[in-house]
Amino acid sequence: MPNKRSILEAPKPKKPIPIGLNGACVWVTGATSGIGRALVVQLVEAGNFVIASGRNKEALGRLAAELGCRVKILPFDVTESDMAVTRAALQEITDYLDCVIACAGICEYEDTLDFEPDKYQRVFETNFLGVIRTLHLAKPLLLNSQVRGQFVAIGSLSSVLPFPRAQAYGAAKAALEYFVKSARIDLSRHALDMTLVRPGFVSTPLVSENDFAMPFMITPEQAARRIITGVNRRKALIDFPRRLSWPLRFLSLFDGLWVRFVGPKITRV
Ligand SMILES: NC(=O)c1ccc[n+]([C@@H]2O[C@H](COP(=O)([O-])OP(=O)(O)OC[C@H]3O[C@@H](n4cnc5c(N)ncnc54)[C@H](OP(=O)(O)O)[C@@H]3O)[C@@H](O)[C@H]2O)c1
Repeated sequence: MPNKRSILEAPKPKKPIPIGLNGACVWVTGATSGIGRALVVQLVEAGNFVIASGRNKEALGRLAAELGCRVKILPFDVTESDMAVTRAALQEITDYLDCVIACAGICEYEDTLDFEPDKYQRVFETNFLGVIRTLHLAKPLLLNSQVRGQFVAIGSLSSVLPFPRAQAYGAAKAALEYFVKSARIDLSRHALDMTLVRPGFVSTPLVSENDFAMPFMITPEQAARRIITGVNRRKALIDFPRRLSWPLRFLSLFDGLWVRFVGPKITRV
């Protein structure tokens, strides 16, 4: 395990990434499954040191066993309000972070039109406030980075247009998008870049029970590659796949027509 900056003395990366994330200290939340797990694997293969978080300690243990000494696990429930233990554990591992990728997320649909507040609370606690908590813990360490720190939040293309049954999930991702863009403005003077990622459909447990068409689905490994490429380029916004994001971005110019004419044709509740 790197004792603070000893990461920089680690062996050469197997698959170097051209710019940026190479020998960096990166914290990934949501690392036990799906996109977050694929990110940890690829970041480690590229020679970075990764702190991997999630709630599932067995899955974290398996990840560490598979990837060896370049991974340190940090169990962290992003909904926990008392973060003192996590803060202490994080600072025990490192006194700086170059990059944080806030990937933890859940999805719940509005199937009954009861608008049950508990559902909205659960989704916002994880998908919105969970990212804020992660940033709150990480910011002092990101400001200690010898390069310019980067905080990456995983949003969703669902925030581009309103989709049926996605009131809780889409609203939390839209709130996250606003937050990241607004925080990017204020943090620009504080040596910290904010990046928003908006994936389309990715074949992970999150969408495994979806019973509707998911066009242009990609694998978590493909998603992780696109995220790392975009992060390396310090992009403010990383959308993929383009064959889905570009049509959605175009349609969002006519969102009034979408809500009035197209949405009602695809809703099932
Ligand atoms: N899959 C897609 O099509 C898609 C599309 C757009 C955006 N996204 C976004 O991509 C991100 C990753 O999703 P995924 O598809 O990879 O889903 P996934 O395979 O279900 O992974 C979700 C991860 O979030 C973690 N997590 C959930 N609740 C948590 C909590 N309270 N505290 C800490 N960690 C928590 C889970 O770990 P533990 O259970 O161990 O805590 C797991 O590692 C999410 O933000 C999701 O909204 C996914």
